[in-house]
Amino acid sequence: MLILGLETSCDETGVALFDTERGLLAHALFSQVDIHVEYGGVVPELASRDHVRKTLPLIEEVINDAGITAAEIEGVAYTAGPGLVGALMVGATLARSLAWGWGVPALGVHHMEGHLLAPMLEEERPDFPFIALLVSGGHTQLVRVDGIGRYRLLGESLDDAAGEAFDKTAKMLGLPYPGGPHIARLAQQGEPGRFDFPRPMVNRPGLDFSFSGLKTFTLNTVEACRQNGELSEQERCDIARAFEDAVVATLVIKCRRALQQENLHTLVMAGGVSANANLRAELKRALAKEQAQVFYPAPMFCTDNGAMIAYAGAQRLLAGQVDGAETRVRPRWPM
Ligand code: KG4
Ligand code: ZN
Repeated sequence: MLILGLETSCDETGVALFDTERGLLAHALFSQVDIHVEYGGVVPELASRDHVRKTLPLIEEVINDAGITAAEIEGVAYTAGPGLVGALMVGATLARSLAWGWGVPALGVHHMEGHLLAPMLEEERPDFPFIALLVSGGHTQLVRVDGIGRYRLLGESLDDAAGEAFDKTAKMLGLPYPGGPHIARLAQQGEPGRFDFPRPMVNRPGLDFSFSGLKTFTLNTVEACRQNGELSEQERCDIARAFEDAVVATLVIKCRRALQQENLHTLVMAGGVSANANLRAELKRALAKEQAQVFYPAPMFCTDNGAMIAYAGAQRLLAGQVDGAETRVRPRWPM
């Protein structure tokens, strides 16, 4: 089954063609980062307008790249939520119109299900059941996955998402949005242990997270350093390092705890923050000690993309799931 997937939930326009027999045929992405950078965050109206401009040309591009004709497409999947309502509407309306014109089914996909299944696009794929750590700009969740659509939430952030904490810390250090990759770059030059940041909630039982205290601790550290004038380059690197180490340690502890609790040995990590090299290395190291395996998407499929939506939609359409003719999006949609 050949499926076109569209992702327009936030500030990336992602389009892909996935075939359940042949795998990923083509994918294209346009990132709006340059449009939003001067505002320090995503401006919803500008995001919607740019999705309107970019989505159709990207669809044309993937059809050409895959060397197929539109007549071969057997279904259209799109992100129906969670996300920015206007941005979601662009993808949903376009997807449903194309599907209607082509006489094929259309299906709205949960954005986090897309992230969670993104490691399935790799050659080496995890077997069900597994634990998924979803870490993005809007979510930090631990989920038990028993199969497609069989998800049980084990724990989540009670306040800021991990990616949001990276973005806010970046802002404090005068780095542009989105801050995650910038923090990671500074952290590489940072001296480990120069600042000792707390590991939030690790001493409490359970699998929930909290990152707002860490954010306050970072702010206090930045202000304490500023007492002696502007932050030096080395101080910025050391703070970035301490912050990143604290987030990584917290996530690693909770992942191990989730695997033990559910008596599982496979972990999948996905979402924008899973692109973080330090997090990937530390998780791999920690889990190897416990004979557990960790799977993650290729870095380009960690952040928002159309391939994960095409994949998730293909699995559901293959199982016969379809939506009615009405275009519906769900800006807030628990998984
Ligand atoms: O999944 P994603 O692309 O969009 C959402 O669904 O939110 O995640 C974006 C988030 C941002 O907060 C960004 O700062 C973070 O992922 N991120 C990173 C890295 N790359 C992206 N955080 C830490 N290290 C990275 N290398
Ligand atoms: Zn995302």
